[in-house]
Amino acid sequence: MKNSEFDIVHRDKLSPGRNVVDRNRKKDSEWKKFSWEWKWCREVEVSFFEKAMNLTAEEDETLNTYQTTAQQWAGKHATAGFWREEMKIFQRFLPVGKILEVGSGGGRDAKELIAFGYEYTGTDISSNFVEVARRKNPGATFLVQSVYDLEFSEDAQFDGFWASAVLLHIPKTKIGKALQRIRKCVKGGGIGFISLKQGEGERLEADSLKNGRFFSYYTGKEFHEVLLKNGFEVVQMKVHPTSEKTTWLCFFVRVSK
Ligand SMILES: C[S@@+](CC[C@H](N)C(=O)[O-])C[C@H]1O[C@@H](n2cnc3c(N)ncnc32)[C@H](O)[C@@H]1O
Repeated sequence: MKNSEFDIVHRDKLSPGRNVVDRNRKKDSEWKKFSWEWKWCREVEVSFFEKAMNLTAEEDETLNTYQTTAQQWAGKHATAGFWREEMKIFQRFLPVGKILEVGSGGGRDAKELIAFGYEYTGTDISSNFVEVARRKNPGATFLVQSVYDLEFSEDAQFDGFWASAVLLHIPKTKIGKALQRIRKCVKGGGIGFISLKQGEGERLEADSLKNGRFFSYYTGKEFHEVLLKNGFEVVQMKVHPTSEKTTWLCFFVRVSK
């Protein structure tokens, strides 16, 4: 049989003198061309997906950062029980039921919410995070969905939602849109948890590796008003400082009927 230009003919170490054709191997130059083409297709696919989602340039950059760092990020933020006290409060308001997690990241909270007994569905805009979360929680449901495009066959099917450290990536001009979308998925009277970083303004910030993420900071009063405007009643609010730099604002909300 004639060898194709991509085949590598190499010596069979066990039978010196015999040439072996390995049709699964490509020459280095072929691999380079192939991986460049693959990367290009991925980039076109990803940018098409992002444009279809109508993300701002800053949201785009945030998504890019999470896509490229999902595995390491999840490893660094895997502290079990980070929101344990908040989960106990959440459970006092919603003892059992179907819950939706928005921005499920690496699946750290999923594991605990499932252990608390909830019927769980996780969603995240980052497909790489969804992969990490699935590996960490075999058998649990995780879907790649942006908060703006949450879509379930029957709307308003969830009894509650969990949104930890995700709405802080939404520009203030779009927060109403995101909250309305969540509201559509949750039954009237349903319970939710939202955590955000305390502060003022909104900006793109870079970490030590120059990975950019966009943050919206709120005062308690400011976000309380945003919630009321969008049909959520605040049933409890808690301030959770974790470092000199970071104080979390935790809102337990009820979806107005
Ligand atoms: C700071 S991480 C928090 C992850 C997880 N909730 C936790 O507390 O560990 C922010 C998460 O929000 C997701 N995210 C950012 N923008 C989003 C959007 N528009 N829709 C859904 N998820 C989004 C990111 O992909 C990432 O998983």
